[in-house]
Amino acid sequence: MPTARIYYFSGTGNSKRVSEWIRKTGENKGFSVDCIDISKTERRNISRPEDDVLIGFCSPTHGFNLPPIMMHFLLFFPRGKSKVFIVNTRAGMKLSKLFLPGLSGMAQYLYAIIFLLKGYKVVGMRPVDLPSNWIPLHPGLKTKVVDSLHEHWKLKTERFANKMFSGQRDYRALYDLVQDLLISPIAILYYLIGRFVLAKSFYADSSCNNCDLCIKECPVKAIKKVDNRPFWTFRCESCMHCMNNCPKRSIQTAHGYFIGAMFLSHSLLLVLFWKYISRFLQLPSDNILWDFADTLISGSITILTFLVTYRIFHYLLKVPVFREIIRYTSFTRFLFWRRYKYRTGKQRI
Ligand SMILES: Cc1cc2nc3c(=O)[nH]c(=O)nc-3n(C[C@H](O)[C@H](O)[C@H](O)COP(=O)(O)O)c2cc1C
Repeated sequence: MPTARIYYFSGTGNSKRVSEWIRKTGENKGFSVDCIDISKTERRNISRPEDDVLIGFCSPTHGFNLPPIMMHFLLFFPRGKSKVFIVNTRAGMKLSKLFLPGLSGMAQYLYAIIFLLKGYKVVGMRPVDLPSNWIPLHPGLKTKVVDSLHEHWKLKTERFANKMFSGQRDYRALYDLVQDLLISPIAILYYLIGRFVLAKSFYADSSCNNCDLCIKECPVKAIKKVDNRPFWTFRCESCMHCMNNCPKRSIQTAHGYFIGAMFLSHSLLLVLFWKYISRFLQLPSDNILWDFADTLISGSITILTFLVTYRIFHYLLKVPVFREIIRYTSFTRFLFWRRYKYRTGKQRI
C-alpha cells in the first residue's frame, strides 16, 4: 500500500484541519496516511524517510514566515530523496463575496530551499487561506464568514491533494513570488525581533481561575507560573492557542501596556542615547548594512525594554488601579472582540 506522512503544526486548528482534509483525500486514493503533530514529536528522533513515501508539511504563516517551531523542525529533518509537498495556511478574509488571500512572504521558499538542499523533490507548494486567527490585531471573524472560508478552501485543498496523490505537480504558491520577495525583509525582522516583543503582549486578567489549561496545552511550552499567575516567556510564538481556548476568556492582549512599552523603548531617552553613541563613535550611517545593524540594535533595545517592563507589569497587575487601567486598554476584553474557533454543529477540532 502506498504511504504518505503529513507533519503539521497548528495553533488554532487550521493547519491541523488542512492536514486532515489531505489525509482523507489520500485514503480515498488508496494511500495509508499518517498526520503527525510536530509539537508532540521529538525532532531529533525522526529517521530518514523511505524514498517512496510521499511527505507533506503543513503549518500556519507567522510574520510572513514559518513559525520558528516548524523552521527548527525542518532544519533537523533528515536528508532524503522522497517527494515532498508544502502547504502554508494564511490569514484569509472575505469581503462581501470576494475571498481575500493572506501573505506567505518567505514561508514557502524557506521550506522549498531547505528540502531541495536536503535532497528531496518538491512536487507541490500551496497556500490555503483559512480564517485569520491573529486576534490581537482584529476580532475573530464572524461564524458565517468562517464557515464560508472553510467550505471554499476545503474543495481547493482536496483538488491540490488529489494532484499530490496522483503523482502530479502543483506550484500555485509561486504565483505570489514578486509580492513575497518584496515583504521578505519584514519576515526577517519579525523572526529576529517582532516575535519576541509580541510574546510579551499577553496576560491573564482577574477572571483567571488558575486552571492551568494554557500552561498544559501550550504547544511550545512557553507559559509558566510566576507569582501564582500565567506568565508568557520569550518562547511564546503567539500561535493563539491559549487565547482562543481559555474556557474563562481570561487571556487578553494588553494593548495599553504594549503601546506604553513601545513608546518607552523608542522614547527620546533611549533613541537619543543610541544616536548619541553612534555619533560619538562616528559610525557610518549611509549604507544598507549599517541601516540593518541600526535596526537590530534598536530592536534589541526594544526586546530588552519588554523583558524588564513585562515583569514589572506582571507584578503591578496585583494593584487594583493598575489592573483596571490595563483592563480598559485591552481591546480583547470587549465582548464584540470575538475569539477564533472553528465550530460546526457536529465537528469541533
Ligand atoms: C502571530 C501571527 C502571525 C501571522 N502572520 C501571518 C502572515 O504573515 N501572513 C498571513 O497570511 N497570515 C498570518 N497569520 C494568520 C495565520 O497564519 C492563519 O490564521 C493560520 O491559518 C492559522 O493557522 P493555525 O490555526 O493552524 O494556527 C498570522 C497569525 C499569527 C497568530
